[in-house]
Amino acid sequence: MPVEVATRMLPANRDAIVAAARVLADGGLVAFPTETVYGLGADATNGAAVARLYAAKGRPRFNPLIAHVAEARGALALARFSDDARLLAGVFWPGPLTLVLPKAESCPVSDLATAGLDSIAVRVPDHTIARDLLKAFGKPVVAPSANQSGHVSPTLAEHVRADLAGRIDLIVDGGPASVGVESTIVSCLGAPTLLRPGGVPRDMIERVLGHPLVIADAPSDDAPLAPGMLASHYAPKSTLRLNAIDARPGEALLAFGTDAPHAPTTLNLSPSGDLIEAAANLFHHLRTLDAAGAAIAVMPIPDEGLGEAINDRLARAAAPRP
Ligand code: TXA
Ligand code: MG
Repeated sequence: MPVEVATRMLPANRDAIVAAARVLADGGLVAFPTETVYGLGADATNGAAVARLYAAKGRPRFNPLIAHVAEARGALALARFSDDARLLAGVFWPGPLTLVLPKAESCPVSDLATAGLDSIAVRVPDHTIARDLLKAFGKPVVAPSANQSGHVSPTLAEHVRADLAGRIDLIVDGGPASVGVESTIVSCLGAPTLLRPGGVPRDMIERVLGHPLVIADAPSDDAPLAPGMLASHYAPKSTLRLNAIDARPGEALLAFGTDAPHAPTTLNLSPSGDLIEAAANLFHHLRTLDAAGAAIAVMPIPDEGLGEAINDRLARAAAPRP
């Protein structure tokens, strides 16, 4: 258990950016908003800071982290880009796409952050506060989702506080994350491969590439490919029942679309059936229903566009716990 630290929370403004960059430079931990979910940032080049980050999250050591940079140019110092990688970065950066690439020889990111792999995950977030912070700090920042390992990802500063107060130095409050699910992860080590569905729908990526992505085999729990792919992950405390057409007595309902059945406790991901709105609401609604303590019945979500990422997270939230 890490030593308790006082966790400050500041509204996102110039002073907060300056304070956050200073915390990072001192080897501390800062939670900050991105367009997908809140990230827990540490100086990617500082092994001790990265170790502190793993401890604060309670994250298994073998999980490599994503290095965040302010601009695509900054990623060139970290990784080698194939033609496909260059194409995808050109179209989707800044934005919710993470590329897994061969690590550049002179890559300054600590081996602990990449879990000793010779590949590295990089991303350029599309969020003013995140990019201002990355610019002010001037070095890559590793940032997993700012939740305790295994918990639901945070889309509000308040979610971060609930999970990590006393374990991190600073939370920059920039309001709700707009996308609501984590970035899509595509490996460009060989033929472009989908490691994790996320904020950029698969078909958009395939359209740019001009061919389908390879879909990574489901990894086993003890040999995860992208450890966010552990079968049980993003887990609320309540049990989830997927593809429910109604709520049984005692169950809360996580609904989707116009014809939701009646249940005493219902939250609708998108009453109009909009998958973008549903993704943005997913983790907040899961947290809220989880706090109500009930078992959760989840209505079916169409498996298209952002629905693929939503269904991926719901399946993990419903999986048996280790
Ligand atoms: O949207 C996001 O990506 C958020 C925000 C904060 O940027 N971050 C995030 O990070 O979701 P995290 O640590 O929760 O998930 C990163 C995933 C993990 O599943 C990790 O295993 C995978 O990326 N990953 C990192 N480096 C990898 C590598 N070299 N090869 C394969 N997978 C990698
Ligand atoms: Mg995570």
